[in-house]
Amino acid sequence: MPECKVLLVEDNLGDARSLQEMLADADSSLFRVQTADSLVAALNALALRRFDVALVDLSLASSHGLETLLTVQRHAPGLPIVALTGQDSDSMAMAAVERGAQDCLVKSTLKVDSLVRSLQYAMLRRHRSTEPVETQVATVIGILGAKGGVGTTTIACHWALELQRQTKKKVLLLDVDVSSASASFLMDVHSEYTTAEASSNLHRLDASYWNNLVCSTPRGVDVLQAPGAMRFHDPLNGERVRHVLRFARSLYSYVVVDLGRLNDLSLSLASEVSELFVVTTPEIPALFETGRVLNKLSEPGVMGGRTQLILNRLAKGMSHSLSDLECVLGRPVCATIGDCSAELHDAYGMGQFLDERLAISKQSRQMVTTYLGGGVVEPRSASRGALGLLRLAGVRD
Ligand SMILES: Nc1ncnc2c1ncn2[C@@H]1O[C@H](COP(=O)(O)OP(=O)(O)OP(=O)(O)O)[C@@H](O)[C@H]1O
Ligand SMILES: [Mg+2]
Repeated sequence: MPECKVLLVEDNLGDARSLQEMLADADSSLFRVQTADSLVAALNALALRRFDVALVDLSLASSHGLETLLTVQRHAPGLPIVALTGQDSDSMAMAAVERGAQDCLVKSTLKVDSLVRSLQYAMLRRHRSTEPVETQVATVIGILGAKGGVGTTTIACHWALELQRQTKKKVLLLDVDVSSASASFLMDVHSEYTTAEASSNLHRLDASYWNNLVCSTPRGVDVLQAPGAMRFHDPLNGERVRHVLRFARSLYSYVVVDLGRLNDLSLSLASEVSELFVVTTPEIPALFETGRVLNKLSEPGVMGGRTQLILNRLAKGMSHSLSDLECVLGRPVCATIGDCSAELHDAYGMGQFLDERLAISKQSRQMVTTYLGGGVVEPRSASRGALGLLRLAGVRD
């Protein structure tokens, strides 16, 4: 008996149970049903598992009618969908099929045989169709600050610009830092829309809505700005932002996320990034925070990819060597950026925040070149000078 994985998107517990019972009674196939009681739960399930078919109630409380269908479709291109309606409405059924549902069934008159047949036909038709399925999946690069003010946003902006410059591919800078929205300031873009609008309108996310949300910059990077201080009363929902990120992955080759500092939101996105760069500086408080952040990130299930360290604002003539700092941090530093205060002060005075000629741009360029070339940095051995630092920063046992 062939097994068939069904995603049932239904918020009415009674209806969900009776649909599950119907499918359990079917003789022709073994249906494995996973129920999602909201649109976000459905998107979570789709992100974690592959399904053969989805049964989608068009009247979920959290999103209405065809929006549910379209959202599921966008997040799982190619998945056959059978729609369900509460009442016998021809116009709703026609609209659902017109928008890509394989069939539309009325719950109140549903029988086992017709339900099973509809699911099987839906899978068969989809299997035979030659419709191309969206395949682009961006590499997601997260930039996280070990503490505030270490240069996270500056580095995230340079990463995005350099990735675009060196690869000529589509790059998005996604700012989710809830405490400041400075990526849009540095990138010199202005929009009334932010990550908050994207995450509260998951059901509307398609390419044209997206184009209204993001700002395109002359240097070829799209920016979706963070809500920043204006929205403290309405915090970003990590689960929803995760789906915004997943959607964005289908539109770009690279997504650089300014994660701000470690908090519930950045932690919930850490599992989505392929490469996480933790930015820190050589100051003792920053080293101390870095140790705590790295410990948290090393807990099981937190990270989706690799974690690397960027040491920013490395002053010339520093009393501790780089290998001492690496010893303190317990891992190699993948890139260093010098202290460029004087040049940044002048450049900012002239409104040239991310000018390509700045030393910080050139050092970021090198970092991105190494990354694109697949460069890996090996740990150095510690010198005796590291011991004092170790005690001060207290980041390792
Ligand atoms: N390598 C550097 N040399 C000198 N100054 C730097 C360097 N990198 C960043 N800065 C400066 O540090 C300040 C903070 O930078 P930025 O806003 O990027 O940090 P952040 O970690 O994102 O801060 P926040 O916690 O407010 O989000 C800015 O004035 C920036 O110009
Ligand atoms: Mg910042």
